[in-house]
Amino acid sequence: MIEQIQAARRDALHRVDASTDLDEVRRLESELLGRKGPLASLKAQLGSVADADSRKAAGAALGEATAAVSEAVAARRQALERTARLEQLQHERLDLTEVAARAVRGHAHIVTQAWERLEDVFVGLGFQIAEGPEVETDWYNFEALNMPPSHPARSMWDTLFLEYGEPGTVVLRTHTSPVQIRVMQTQTPPLYVVMPGRVFRNETPDATHMPVFHQIEGLVIDRNITMAHLAGTIEAFTKAFFGGGFSSRLRPSYFPFTEPSAEFDIRTPDGSWLELGGCGMVHPNVLRAGGLDPEEWSGFAFGFGIDRMAKERHQVADLREMYTNDLRFLEQF
Ligand code: FA5
Repeated sequence: MIEQIQAARRDALHRVDASTDLDEVRRLESELLGRKGPLASLKAQLGSVADADSRKAAGAALGEATAAVSEAVAARRQALERTARLEQLQHERLDLTEVAARAVRGHAHIVTQAWERLEDVFVGLGFQIAEGPEVETDWYNFEALNMPPSHPARSMWDTLFLEYGEPGTVVLRTHTSPVQIRVMQTQTPPLYVVMPGRVFRNETPDATHMPVFHQIEGLVIDRNITMAHLAGTIEAFTKAFFGGGFSSRLRPSYFPFTEPSAEFDIRTPDGSWLELGGCGMVHPNVLRAGGLDPEEWSGFAFGFGIDRMAKERHQVADLREMYTNDLRFLEQF
């Protein structure tokens, strides 16, 4: 009997070890360890072993054989499951080497490039750089800039108000001019500062307008500053930024925070004129709002659109192109 048991055990272990997939293991498990399996039928014969010691020994051998076959089944199942998992992982793995090999270093966006170049040029002309918050109070964005609540010029900027605090008191800044006031309040003149930043207006996008765009503001406050200093600075900037073939002109205009006010245009080498932004002598009320005495200090300010400058510099037909994030477009610059 013992020999039969050992033979059945050897045979079972051999078949389990030789199994090659999980279905086969499942089949073998029920075949070898089930009620009709070889070990079970040997167990059924135990009762016919007359000698008690032999019966006991056979019973023990059967118990060990059954445990060994169960263990072998479990081990084989585990091993096959592990192999299946590895195969699946191998199958699902992405080969990133192809992508990595093609990876190229990106570069700054066309508007960021213009922004940084503008900063470089103005720093070269002796200006410092300042920035202000994009979320502004109505006071900084309008009132301190000589636009009281009833002032009609407020409608020039289609304002996006925030639901914060008292209704109509907090805005997404419509221009970078409020940073003028912040600089006057925190720095001591003489001031030679440019203030680049993002601004927001309730506009429908078209070829030359975006609801979110960028401006760079300039502010000079010193003693005895005149319109001639403004014109000279604009001209020096035009040549430094666009090149020697370009020149500038001022055209009379109106802004509530400058008096007199002007639009400034640049003349391209082909003779055409291009409007760049607004400028003028800082209004006395604005100096007062910034905490400065208009009897002692005078100055000029200017502000123009960075996006439009990038557009002109790179001959882009439509501002919206710069914000669709199409790499085929952006990679050209
Ligand atoms: C202003 O925003 C004044 N704060 C400029 C200023 C500063 C005047 C200091 C005097 C002294 P204006 O709304 O014209 O002005 O905008 C200035 C420039 O921003 C425009 O010339 C244009 O280049 C750009 N710009 C205006 N609206 C848009 C828009 N929707 N999309 C893109 N660029 C715009």
